[in-house]
Amino acid sequence: MRHQVISFANQKGGVGKTTTCINLAGALCEKGTTILLVDMDYQSNLTLGVGIFPDEVKKGMGDVMLFGDVSLREIIHTTNIPGADIAPANLDLSKVDINIADRKERQSILHNKLLEVKDNYDYVFIDCPPAFNLLTINALSASDGVLIPIQCYPYSLSGLNTLLEIIDDIRYAYNFDLEIAGIIPTAYDTNTKIASEVLKELHERYGGKVFDSIIKKSVKVAEGPIHQRPMVQYAKSHPVTMAYRELASEFLKREKAA
Ligand SMILES: Nc1ncnc2c1ncn2[C@@H]1O[C@H](COP(=O)(O)OP(=O)(O)OP(=O)(O)O)[C@@H](O)[C@H]1O
Ligand SMILES: [Mg+2]
Repeated sequence: MRHQVISFANQKGGVGKTTTCINLAGALCEKGTTILLVDMDYQSNLTLGVGIFPDEVKKGMGDVMLFGDVSLREIIHTTNIPGADIAPANLDLSKVDINIADRKERQSILHNKLLEVKDNYDYVFIDCPPAFNLLTINALSASDGVLIPIQCYPYSLSGLNTLLEIIDDIRYAYNFDLEIAGIIPTAYDTNTKIASEVLKELHERYGGKVFDSIIKKSVKVAEGPIHQRPMVQYAKSHPVTMAYRELASEFLKREKAA
């Protein structure tokens, strides 16, 4: 296994980070994989998406990041996904950036907190916010790999080079183990020419980093937050669910090939 801790990152908002994290986790857990989900976004969409209401989170990632005496172990909940636990978030996570900015070890808080729990799971999936803030830096500093969801729309590729440069910067500054685990095309609209052009360009620029599995655009995907569970549970045989299962198989294959 090449990457045990994986961040879902892209500074662009609404590109499918959280949706990919939940549905890939759902499809992997269906195959017997165990995963710790970590919500590093104060929007708390990952937390909500696996069955926990952020308002009901008493201690969450905000406390873990702010207070030395709060461990990850004590905030971990079970989820609606058998095989996946979550370190949930609520709005308190929004206080972290400003409060840790002056700390000497501000970029390695999550890395250090993960040490005592990560080996209890096959993978740790970290959902990043749509920003290059200290939460994202903590996530990337704690990760072995980054998965980058890309929606196949015009301008989707414009920020990708910047993201890859920042990942390089973090690799050299804090975490030499950090690799690109893959780029995942999502929300692919078969009815538009532009989507196929964007996909072609993605392959030309980034080659083998791009997953062959493609997640098509579907309203069924957007229903996720209502069901608070992954598609493998609420739309068992939908074509996009099958695509998430293929993505999970490809992910495991890529992870096996060191
Ligand atoms: N394949 C898809 N088909 C249709 N809608 C999708 C698809 N994937 C994601 N969406 C929808 O796109 C929106 C953004 O997705 P998501 O919340 O996963 O993005 P994000 O990158 O996590 O956003 P943020 O940057 O705000 O955290 C959501 O409403 C989601 O339901
Ligand atoms: Mg999100």
